[in-house]
Amino acid sequence: MARVAIVTGGTRGIGQAICLRLQKQGHLVIASYAGNDEKAKAFTAATGISAYRWDVGDHEACIHNCNDIAATHGPIDIVINNAGVTRDGVLHKMTFDDWNEVMRINLGGCFNMAKATFPGMRERGWGRIVNIGSINGQAGQYGQVNYAAAKSGIHGFTKALAQEGARYGVTVNAIAPGYIDTDMVAAVPQPVLEKIVAKIPVGRLGQAEEIARAVAFLTSENGGFVTGSTMSINGGQHMY
Ligand code: CAA
Repeated sequence: MARVAIVTGGTRGIGQAICLRLQKQGHLVIASYAGNDEKAKAFTAATGISAYRWDVGDHEACIHNCNDIAATHGPIDIVINNAGVTRDGVLHKMTFDDWNEVMRINLGGCFNMAKATFPGMRERGWGRIVNIGSINGQAGQYGQVNYAAAKSGIHGFTKALAQEGARYGVTVNAIAPGYIDTDMVAAVPQPVLEKIVAKIPVGRLGQAEEIARAVAFLTSENGGFVTGSTMSINGGQHMY
């Protein structure tokens, strides 16, 4: 059945692959993006997927835009909380701003989007929320106290909300990607990244599509008994 799906941070990287995969499943997909208008325009031109610009860390903006999308396209049944940023640095060099931005966007964004869409899913008796966590939220990572805390928070948030949604047909799951071949990972200094890749048993970075395929399953009708889970997709780097 075709449903309305929102993918935050949907115009690039993992989000883009998720948008395309959900579109292939027959859903009406909407992408949100934070700032890169040029990339968003090119994305919409290439895919036919509408892209809305707002900051997922802004509570009111999430409520307003989700209401707007629902009024235009219909009730939102699928939400993929994918938008995220890094502000890497060792703690003694990290500013409060580096900490706060990552918490506000990566973790706060999940709360904001759930507030905007979960009550409707609950009332209608069907919904799918997939939160994109991280291997670094499971295992920690040098230089990422902010990101690891936010992603670890996402895993807890997922399990708590899953309990609230279960009786109402709303599943809430997380995916914990390892190092995926995206702009975010490409920004890791090359010598550091080489050391990380050397520790991945599968011997390579992951592909965004490998995350998207799991999202397709979790959001499908067949995924109804899977809730509160965190699926690790990391080439064996962290077996959790
Ligand atoms: N464990 C122990 N020591 C480490 C280390 C590690 N993992 N990484 C670096 N160090 C050591 C270095 O060897 C170095 O030691 P020496 O001074 O004795 O040589 C010291 O720490 C300082 O390292 P840097 O020179 O790298 O320090 P920096 O301040 O220039 O940079 C950093 C620090 C920004 C954290 C940088 O190391 C870095 O970018 N690391 C990668 C962080 C990372 O993995 N980010 C993931 C981004 S992608 C993502 O997050 C997606 C996802 O979900 C997976």
